[in-house]
Amino acid sequence: MRAVTVPEPGGPEALVVTELPDPEPGPGEVVIDTAATAVNRADTLQRQGFYPPPPGASDVLGLECSGTVSAVGEAVERWSVGDEVCALLSGGGYAEKVLVPQGQLMPVPAGVDLVTAGALPEVACTVWSTVFMIAGLRHDETLLVHGGAGGIGTFAIQLAHALGARVITTGSAEKLQVCRDLGADVAVNYREQDFVEEVDEATDGAGADVVLDNIGAKYLGRNVQALATEGRLVVIGMQGGTKGELDLGLLMRKRGAVVSATLRARPAEEKAAICAAVVEHVWPLVADGTVRILVHTSLPLEQVAEGHRIMEESSHVGKIVLTL
Ligand SMILES: NC(=O)c1ccc[n+]([C@@H]2O[C@H](COP(=O)([O-])OP(=O)(O)OC[C@H]3O[C@@H](n4cnc5c(N)ncnc54)[C@H](OP(=O)(O)O)[C@@H]3O)[C@@H](O)[C@H]2O)c1
Repeated sequence: MRAVTVPEPGGPEALVVTELPDPEPGPGEVVIDTAATAVNRADTLQRQGFYPPPPGASDVLGLECSGTVSAVGEAVERWSVGDEVCALLSGGGYAEKVLVPQGQLMPVPAGVDLVTAGALPEVACTVWSTVFMIAGLRHDETLLVHGGAGGIGTFAIQLAHALGARVITTGSAEKLQVCRDLGADVAVNYREQDFVEEVDEATDGAGADVVLDNIGAKYLGRNVQALATEGRLVVIGMQGGTKGELDLGLLMRKRGAVVSATLRARPAEEKAAICAAVVEHVWPLVADGTVRILVHTSLPLEQVAEGHRIMEESSHVGKIVLTL
């Protein structure tokens, strides 16, 4: 099968399309013939040698895919050859065939084409597991989501808005209208405005109940300032560094929580529980068109380096899809 590997860490040119043996399903595993996968920031870090796959995961890049089930192992009950599915992966998505534990497969939501479904699992599972399962955002609360025009941001805005929460987001100037169109009540130009002041003004001084943060160290102090009493800050990215300073006095006065989460490192049974929750709670909203996946561009797998360049330049809005 064709697959993308990184023989030597480096820039986008380090990505190599190569031939690897086809995977065989073991007990509880399924093989998918891939229709599409998508680029994630974690893939760009892995390519640079900063984010090795967890033990037991494939060296092939790719944290999500869609396609058709082509083989099932022993003790697989829910899936059959021919089923159209999408899947949350620990790796291996940039390949013609992907081996997946059965619990990480999800049906393609009604109304979504098979290729677009390849860009759904990471954003749906990340946003549902952090904003809703960990932080417990309620319909009468305010979410601040950074990077509102990114893959995660575009999905988080729509989902929180659909469930009735107020949404404040950050982005660069030219991307703010998209965020508003998706349901953001307030869109803050992070290059020119102070998001703490904007949250304060938009909430009459109350602050954000939940913050979904992809920036990490650079925003840690200001994210805590932007929190409401009993607010929950969930850090899911480190685009602004890993070591910051936390004012524990301020956090304690707010009775706030700082939590971090990474989907990839979770054991298979936790990933399966998240996938089941996403199918139950998120898929109906995708199926009825309330929440949609924004695809910036679709490239053939051979142009994977171009996909990584687009993400690193941050010229995209939504997801970058790779087709097979
Ligand atoms: N922990 C997990 O399980 C998990 C899972 C999935 C993703 N993630 C992380 O979540 C983050 C977002 O992923 P993604 O797929 O949405 O990436 P993405 O599509 O590249 O989006 C990143 C966004 O961040 C924005 N941004 C950059 N600097 C910013 C700043 N200083 N303030 C506010 N926004 C800023 C960019 O906006 P502009 O282009 O407008 O600057 C861009 O829209 C990544 O760091 C990724 O690693 C974590």
